[in-house]
Amino acid sequence: MIINPFQKNKPIIYLIIITYFCAFSVFMSFSSQLISWYHENKRELPWRSTKNPYHIWLSEIMLQQTRVAQGLSYYATFTETFPTVFDLAAADEQLVLKLWQGLGYYSRARNLHFTAKHIAENLEGEFPSDFKSLKALKGVGDYTASAIASIAFNQPNAVVDGNVYRVLSRIFGIDTPINSTEGIKEFKALAQSLIDQKQPGTFNQAIMDFGAMQCKPANPDCGNCPFQNSCYAKKEDKQDVLPVKLKKTKVRKRFFNYLVILTEDGKTQLNQRTSKGIWQNLYEFPLIESSNLIPESELINSSDFKALPFKNFEISLFNEKPVVHKLSHQHLHTQFWIVETSNFDGANISWRDVQDYPVPVLMANFLKQFSSNIKSFL
Ligand code: ADE
Repeated sequence: MIINPFQKNKPIIYLIIITYFCAFSVFMSFSSQLISWYHENKRELPWRSTKNPYHIWLSEIMLQQTRVAQGLSYYATFTETFPTVFDLAAADEQLVLKLWQGLGYYSRARNLHFTAKHIAENLEGEFPSDFKSLKALKGVGDYTASAIASIAFNQPNAVVDGNVYRVLSRIFGIDTPINSTEGIKEFKALAQSLIDQKQPGTFNQAIMDFGAMQCKPANPDCGNCPFQNSCYAKKEDKQDVLPVKLKKTKVRKRFFNYLVILTEDGKTQLNQRTSKGIWQNLYEFPLIESSNLIPESELINSSDFKALPFKNFEISLFNEKPVVHKLSHQHLHTQFWIVETSNFDGANISWRDVQDYPVPVLMANFLKQFSSNIKSFL
């Protein structure tokens, strides 16, 4: 007897067909509902009125560092100062770092400059137009390559950022940790299966705006959400639980003592950090690191302080409470010590010029506070 394989496996095949159609209709409606929400609610942003990959690349690198509202002024400054990739390539690194100041994570600015030089010198100023070649550029990861490929070149590459993780985990009820290898793969595959093939750039920007404006981390606006009837988190009241993130490794506490030297002729000392790390090439006051918070007596009796060539000095603590600067894996407990002295060998930078040096945000915040004090000194 000949057995018809379809007859034998009928229930399974029906199940596959139904699942496929259900999934297809859900996915279709997800993309079209999302894009129609976007047309009604999207933010008018300067990088949305261009297809210029250089401008889109700049905006996407900046938006990894900061929120859209704060990114606007940096985008304006960079596109005005360096209108083309050739202008950025030809710029002095110190100026690039200075204009980046406040965004933090300076390796991004250094990579930006490196890649601009590579594109100007080796690619005749033309950005690659496919995901793989974009991702090969220094400082361009999966997210940025997908954003540029989709927005500037209409390629169907889905972006997955914090907003996308939140939207997809809540609507589809996925509790795989978003910072696990498995989660990264799963969410990328889901986003890729949902992307609108005809308007991938619009889809990508829509899902990110939707996450930022509607499906917010706290107090999402579920009452006005187009997905309120199908959203898993809304149905199960799990908005606060999704997305799931694995706990990070322990944060290391460090204790920084910055010596803010003031000489009688209005000079100070800044040192450039040459070691690899997030502050590479930035400037800072002479630094003495200690193993805990230390009082003045302990500081001036330390071997590091004694090694400095002070002839005479008066020292006072600027901040009663240490400033705690939080980086991803370390918290810097910082004390700024004002050291007045007649003169000092290393102090060869005039206070008036300090603002021209690229410095870490921790230092920039101090300088802002301190500038009103220093005016009377100059
Ligand atoms: N976040 C980063 N890039 C974005 C973009 N192009 N649109 C919306 N949000 C973003």
